[in-house]
Amino acid sequence: MAEYLISEAALERNARVLREVGDAAGAKMLVALKAFAGVAGLHCLREFADGACASGLYEAKLAAEHLGGHIAVYAPAYTKRDLLELLEFAHHIDFNSLPQWERVRKMCMRHPRAVHGLLHFGLRVNPCHSTGRTPLYDPCTPGSRLGVPVADLDKAAPVGISGIHIHTLCEQNAPDLVETMEELEAQSSMLLNSSEVRYLNLGGGHWITMPEYKRETLIALVKRLKENYGVDVYLEPGEAWCIRTGVLRARVLDVFESMGYRHAILDVSVTAHMPDVLEMPYRPDVFCLMNTASDATVGKAPSVQLPGEYYHLAGEAGQQAYTYRLGAPTCLAGDVLGDFSFPRMLNVGDILVMDDMTHYTIVKSTHFNGVPHPDICMLGVDGVRRCVRHFDYRDFADRLG
Ligand SMILES: Cc1ncc(COP(=O)(O)O)c(C=O)c1O
Repeated sequence: MAEYLISEAALERNARVLREVGDAAGAKMLVALKAFAGVAGLHCLREFADGACASGLYEAKLAAEHLGGHIAVYAPAYTKRDLLELLEFAHHIDFNSLPQWERVRKMCMRHPRAVHGLLHFGLRVNPCHSTGRTPLYDPCTPGSRLGVPVADLDKAAPVGISGIHIHTLCEQNAPDLVETMEELEAQSSMLLNSSEVRYLNLGGGHWITMPEYKRETLIALVKRLKENYGVDVYLEPGEAWCIRTGVLRARVLDVFESMGYRHAILDVSVTAHMPDVLEMPYRPDVFCLMNTASDATVGKAPSVQLPGEYYHLAGEAGQQAYTYRLGAPTCLAGDVLGDFSFPRMLNVGDILVMDDMTHYTIVKSTHFNGVPHPDICMLGVDGVRRCVRHFDYRDFADRLG
């Protein structure tokens, strides 16, 4: 049975880094639940996070139940029903357009929690300055629906708005944020200087837990923004909490040759269980479980390993002796992980491990083609592996109505 295996120790390792950076910068560090919302893992982050960034009512409710702390919500639009519920417990609600804010402004501002200063409202602003490489993940791309273009804003904050929210990055380093902020400040320093504006939310996409991330640059930027504008600064990374904390373990179901290619069919689907591999797209590291320590790759192992297991890192096509096209047991022709090479032939029953599969995987997975959904397992800090969710036929059938 395939499984996502997530390490509590690795989640805690990342969480400590984010807490340290948050403390050094004086920034509030939120967990963006859109990246990872597994209740069994959130308890590892709770102690280190200031709260959560929610993409709407459901994530906000999950945050209230399982993470606690500050709840910042942003969605491109809200239904009135969801908004009425959010007003009861969220702390920041950020809006995407001025027309929506105008439609709900009175209702929001009259709410007792807003009157008593427990709830604030913000506006997502689009700095219209791209620093990313992937258009799919670039909210500053021309024609974007995400945020009010900075040039469309007056110099003062709209009535009732006390927060500015920007989110422009994806897997990026601090200098990109510095560049974006400088651009925003050049166009809207009056807005940021407005005495109404009390918080600045710098969104996600900060790769803070990667070794190459320039943490000191981020810390200096946050300090400068706080000092210049007298605002509270919020960061809401998702991926950074989860980098190198989980793997997807799959089995080889069949191997065969066709039209000059060796194929291995796995018991997982790329589109259903690792969709970002196709959407982004990217090529994950793949490891093959080996029998002996001498077959293992030196210096390179999956993010999460079970005791007594040895892994060999697969190479590019042709790099090692046996190249296979790793594919899914579905009807979609393109449901393929890619061509990977191994030092030995693959056999039915072999275990392959796809690395770095916590963020934006489980939250996006589906039951496409009725392929059995991988279990979700946690590797505890005590070294014990626990299955926290097993999916069966009923999960597939019940969800589809
Ligand atoms: C508004 C907002 N905040 C935070 C995030 C989290 O980003 P990441 O997981 O890349 O850090 C996203 C991701 O799309 C987002 O859209």
